[in-house]
Amino acid sequence: MSSSTSDSKLNVVVTGGAGYVGSVCAARLLESGHQVTVVDDLSTGHRDAVPSGATFVEGDVAEVADSLLADGYDGVLHFAGKSLVGESMQVPDKYWHGNVVTTLRLLDAMRRHRTPRLVFSSTAATYGEPATIPITEAAATNPTNTYGATKLAVDHLISSYATAHGLAAVSLRYFNVAGAYGQFGERHTSETHLIPIVLQVAAGQRDQVQIFGGDYPTPDGTAIRDYIHVVDLADAHEAALLRATAGQHRIYNLGNGTGFSVKQVIETCRAVTGHEIPAVVASRRAGDPAVLVSSSERAQAELGWTPRLADLANIVSDAWKFTQEHTAR
Ligand SMILES: NC(=O)c1ccc[n+]([C@@H]2O[C@H](COP(=O)([O-])OP(=O)(O)OC[C@H]3O[C@@H](n4cnc5c(N)ncnc54)[C@H](O)[C@@H]3O)[C@@H](O)[C@H]2O)c1
Repeated sequence: MSSSTSDSKLNVVVTGGAGYVGSVCAARLLESGHQVTVVDDLSTGHRDAVPSGATFVEGDVAEVADSLLADGYDGVLHFAGKSLVGESMQVPDKYWHGNVVTTLRLLDAMRRHRTPRLVFSSTAATYGEPATIPITEAAATNPTNTYGATKLAVDHLISSYATAHGLAAVSLRYFNVAGAYGQFGERHTSETHLIPIVLQVAAGQRDQVQIFGGDYPTPDGTAIRDYIHVVDLADAHEAALLRATAGQHRIYNLGNGTGFSVKQVIETCRAVTGHEIPAVVASRRAGDPAVLVSSSERAQAELGWTPRLADLANIVSDAWKFTQEHTAR
């Protein structure tokens, strides 16, 4: 059953739409003319991050999915989840329940109410230490932490539901998401992502940034990562939603295909903000590979999507505007 008004304007549920990526995606979907219902328990999200045009349901996806989906929706974009790598090693049950059990409940509700499409937030952490760079979807999946293992388990779950029950499903494996979209940006209480941490130093909220590892086999000795603008990421979700095919589970990596070292990111943040940003080199963290760079060729070829905001200075500049607004409050 579906309640869409036309073939390309859909009525969708966005789980985790009060969080960073989900709020940007919900805002972009609304601008494209889709109807959006956000479900979020506000465990790491913010009520004021839910775009004003969306209907908001406060609750745990595992508990509310069944009653909500009975109303008839064209699809679900499933961002809700737990995503702190360190925490996942200390409190694994929170991750197996929060990511795997919750998604199983969601999939059962979708099956029961015949919700036809799913787009899932997977991660580059499903691959673990890459044997070759750039990382394609054909790379071996050997996650080095519980977070990555739970996301990989969900990918397997989705594959079997797509094959057996005709679900049209897409998993998007994000590399490092960064940047902001106007009032929607990254404000995690436990911030682990490099760009917001560096910008917090620029904003006077932290004294310095720690560089984990200065002796990697990279040109400047610091680790290299692939940063994708959150708006490019959101646009890939709409393309995936519209192109999902019944009975198929497609997996796409989403990154820029270009790597930047930790030192390059800090230098860019200094240039954009005009602040000194003290940095100190600390030891490497266990399980942090030297280089993680995505091949997004499959997404570009099959989703008709291209990252348009790949310039690191633009990504940092958008994140800096957001940081300044939220620091001023
Ligand atoms: N940000 C990144 O760089 C990145 C990279 C790879 C993958 N991801 C994945 O993308 C998704 C979104 O990431 P984010 O950075 O926006 O995280 P976030 O913490 O900002 O957003 C997650 C949202 O889900 C909500 N939530 C969590 N569990 C819930 C539940 N059971 N029921 C209802 N709501 C729940 C939280 O309150 C929050 O608003 C996550 O699944 C994450 O694993 C993010």
